[in-house]
Amino acid sequence: MAPRIVVLISGNGSNLQAIIDAINSKTLEGQIVLVVSNKKSAFGLTRATQAGLPTLTFPLKQYKDLGKTRIEYDLDLAKKIKEYNPNLIILAGWMHILSEEFLKCFDDIIINLHPALPNQFDGTNSIERAYEAFKKGDITKTGVMVHKVIPDVDKGEPLLIEEVPILETDSLDDLETRIHNVEHRLIVQGAKKILDELNR
Ligand code: GRF
Repeated sequence: MAPRIVVLISGNGSNLQAIIDAINSKTLEGQIVLVVSNKKSAFGLTRATQAGLPTLTFPLKQYKDLGKTRIEYDLDLAKKIKEYNPNLIILAGWMHILSEEFLKCFDDIIINLHPALPNQFDGTNSIERAYEAFKKGDITKTGVMVHKVIPDVDKGEPLLIEEVPILETDSLDDLETRIHNVEHRLIVQGAKKILDELNR
C-alpha cells in the first residue's frame, strides 16, 4: 500500500501542488490522505479539492475565542490527524509552530520545508531577510532545506540542503522565484528520502 501522507499548509500551497504532481507522475510513491489548513482562505485548499483530496480547515481562532490553550488546539489537531493513520506528515508552508505535545503524538515522521540554510534566518520572512543581508554584503548565497521537526523552530536534523545563489541583478521577486523552484523539487526529494528511511 502506498504510504499515507498528511500535508499541512497555510497559504498558496505551491509545495502541496508539487507533491500532488509528483504523486500523479509516479515520481513519488504515496497517497495524500488529508490536507490540513489553519486558514480558511488558503489557496492550497482549492488545489487540494481540485485534486480530489480530503481537506480539513482547522483555525486557531475558534480555540482562542473559547479561551482554550494552544496546547489544546495542538492536541485536538493531532487527534484528527491520527484518525488518518499517516506514515508521513509534511509541513509545507504551515505557519504555526507545533508544540512538543503535538510532536510527541507522532514518532519522528514530521518534516518541514524551510527557505533558508541551516541556522540562517530561522522563523518567518527568511527570503526577505536573506535578500536584505545580501544587499548589506553580509551573505552571498542562501538556500533551502528539508528537515525533521523538533520543538526548536527550524532546528531539526536536515534531510536535504541546497544552496541557492543570490545575483547582483536579483529583485526580491527573482530570488523568491528561484527559491520556490528549488523548494518544489526538494520537498518531493525530502518526502522520498524519509519514506525510504522509514521503510528500512
Ligand atoms: C514556502 O516558501 C515555505 O518554505 C514557507 O512558506 C512558503 C509556502 O509556500 N515556509 P506555498 O504555500 O507552498 O506556496
